[in-house]
Amino acid sequence: MTSTVYDEVRYSNYPYAQTHPDRLATVAILHGLEPPDPFRARVLEVGCGAGGNLLAMAAATPGIRAVGVDLAASAIAEGRAAAEAVGLENLELRQVDVRALTEGELGEFDYVIAHGVYAWIPQDARDALLAAIASHLSPDGLAYVSYNANPGGYFRRMLRDAGLWHARGIEDPMQRATKAQELFRFLRDQRATEADMYGQLIERIIPALADGPLYRLVHDDLGEFWDPVWFADFAAHAGEHGLAFVGEADLSGMRSELLPDEVGPEVWRFAQGDRVAFEQYSDLMIPRVFRQSVLCRAGAEIALEPAPGNAARLHWSARPNAKPLEVGLVADAFAALDGARPRAVGFEALREELGADAVALGAALLDGFRRERLMPHAGPLHAALTPGERPEVSPLARWQAGRGPDLTSLAYQTVRMEEPAARALIELLDGTRDRDAIRAGLLDRTGLELTAEDLEANLTELTRLFLIVP
Ligand SMILES: C[S@@+](CC[C@H](N)C(=O)[O-])C[C@H]1O[C@@H](n2cnc3c(N)ncnc32)[C@H](O)[C@@H]1O
Repeated sequence: MTSTVYDEVRYSNYPYAQTHPDRLATVAILHGLEPPDPFRARVLEVGCGAGGNLLAMAAATPGIRAVGVDLAASAIAEGRAAAEAVGLENLELRQVDVRALTEGELGEFDYVIAHGVYAWIPQDARDALLAAIASHLSPDGLAYVSYNANPGGYFRRMLRDAGLWHARGIEDPMQRATKAQELFRFLRDQRATEADMYGQLIERIIPALADGPLYRLVHDDLGEFWDPVWFADFAAHAGEHGLAFVGEADLSGMRSELLPDEVGPEVWRFAQGDRVAFEQYSDLMIPRVFRQSVLCRAGAEIALEPAPGNAARLHWSARPNAKPLEVGLVADAFAALDGARPRAVGFEALREELGADAVALGAALLDGFRRERLMPHAGPLHAALTPGERPEVSPLARWQAGRGPDLTSLAYQTVRMEEPAARALIELLDGTRDRDAIRAGLLDRTGLELTAEDLEANLTELTRLFLIVP
């Protein structure tokens, strides 16, 4: 087994809510499709790294069966150890090269995910990735593929080329990244400015490179393979494998958020009604740097844009800690859903509560999704609505609390818990202790004496963060 650069330099290991079958199903529903039940799905992730994303899914959605594959043996070993420690039995991780998966070798899956892989591997592996998706996907299944996109990629390529030149002759990936970052910091300090066009460009794109972690430079912008694509080329490549574009998994990057409303119809006219051309021109207008595309088998009838009418088929929840909106139906919907957190509320119940018109509410909810305040769900979440008599934090979050501040919620998101005492509390919430035992345990572990009221407030907050299991 050969060692890869991912074995040499560890990559991050986060969950991505936008890859969860729940999200992919909601995108499909918004575009008029009938996706497989995301809460009982067979899920395959290609290039899963150390499995952080699948661990989150498997813990939050006990009904799914997940398989993850990655080329890096050390990442797979790390993920397996975590799954075993947490006691997740619905997740299997395997060291496999995607090139060995082009004939459906692992069986059929309802959802196939590849986050941060397509634009980071050589051309033959890219082709194998789409063949792997096509050959493993069930007839009504959905796939998710993310990639660096053009035209934003051109700006970043300028800095990639400059950084690699500055670090020329250095073989070791970490040393090369350190050297390149020296140039990025120099540019940040000496050239970023609002005063002229070039300075503005540097100011926008340099922070991630100058201030970001070195492992990201090693694997992303300075990686051996780092090749942003135009959407039209991606769509054509997917088409060669019998796959069609459904929509984007995260609406926050959508054109409509960044351009005035009246530009959309102009772009459609310019694209002469062609969906791929429309997306490509939209990317050019933004300018787009990253895409998270949802695909299905070619031949399905797909609505051109997310339809407000289809928002009625979904449940909706408020993003924890999102800034409230001030006016309009979307602000009212956010306030109602924030009050209901951790409940994901069905459309009809929300409409009744707000006394709103269905079409207007559908449009408002989509707007809230775009503005990163609301999350759509294909059904209710697997999170407790109240802490209960013997509160139990998800086993994954409890295990994570013993290791660091990043916890994964049952809404598939990272919750950062910096305070050690809060993490000690979480470790105690294993479903065996009542309130008195929790307070005694906390005193014993941390010396902290929590009043009954403070404990209740903490338990309520943990529930509202989607951390307590039903
Ligand atoms: C940029 S990382 C993304 C990891 C993870 N999906 C994430 O987003 O955090 C790319 C991943 O693809 C894996 N990879 C690269 N080439 C591969 C191949 N031929 N077969 C399977 N996995 C591969 C790497 O080992 C690495 O874990």
